Amino acid sequence: MPVAGVQIQETPQATLSNEPFTQAQLEAIRSAIQNKYKDVATKSADGFFKYTVGRQGAIELGYDMSIINEMPEDLLRSFCGVGNPFGIEQIAAGSVVLDVGCGAGFDMIVAHSLVGETGRVCGIDMTAEMLDKAESNFSRLGITKCETQLVDSARIPYEDDTFDVVISNGVINLSAEKLELFKEIRRVLKPGGRLQFADMILNKPLPPGMSGNLDAWAQ
Ligand SMILES: C[S@@+](CC[C@H](N)C(=O)[O-])C[C@H]1O[C@@H](n2cnc3c(N)ncnc32)[C@H](O)[C@@H]1O
Repeated sequence: MPVAGVQIQETPQATLSNEPFTQAQLEAIRSAIQNKYKDVATKSADGFFKYTVGRQGAIELGYDMSIINEMPEDLLRSFCGVGNPFGIEQIAAGSVVLDVGCGAGFDMIVAHSLVGETGRVCGIDMTAEMLDKAESNFSRLGITKCETQLVDSARIPYEDDTFDVVISNGVINLSAEKLELFKEIRRVLKPGGRLQFADMILNKPLPPGMSGNLDAWAQ
């Protein structure tokens, strides 16, 4: 599966760490994430992140200005992507695209502008307020080829071999079940399909007190 232009080799499961969270810990992580992103949806992304968000964030990440200018202001206020997954490879007209952790729908609308009326864009997210905002903006813009589902990304509610491209922007780092998530992405991709994602990575050890701190997960 090509990711960001490189080929990821199959890795035996035994060498990947399968995060040993208990159900209670998983619930605590999900609830911290949902509480944060509920506020990002109903208020704005301002003040919740250490990187530039909203309209200015989208501009700095190199999104097409003509698309940014078409986006409703309230949708732009909730944009908190960390990169630009569309810079990796062009998405063709007619493609079927899944956005994992679609938030308020910014990247879904960008994908919709690329796939056109013969394509389809699906989004999943586990924060209801984000999806309410996405759906109301699709209606406002007259977009009918975008659909969303409220689920945890570790269980993607689509059949095998459904998507040409899976995109994601700032979400995989938040998953407490990364191995399951990557398996699910692979399962729903058509043969030859690809994952284009932007995300945050650690380049040095976490400060003392943050590592293993569930409250810090969604920060
Ligand atoms: C940093 S925001 C990015 C949102 C959107 N991609 C954007 O660029 O604006 C992270 C989003 O991922 C969602 N999310 C986090 N963990 C998730 C999970 N395990 N399953 C589904 N959605 C998740 C959050 O609800 C939030 O909407």
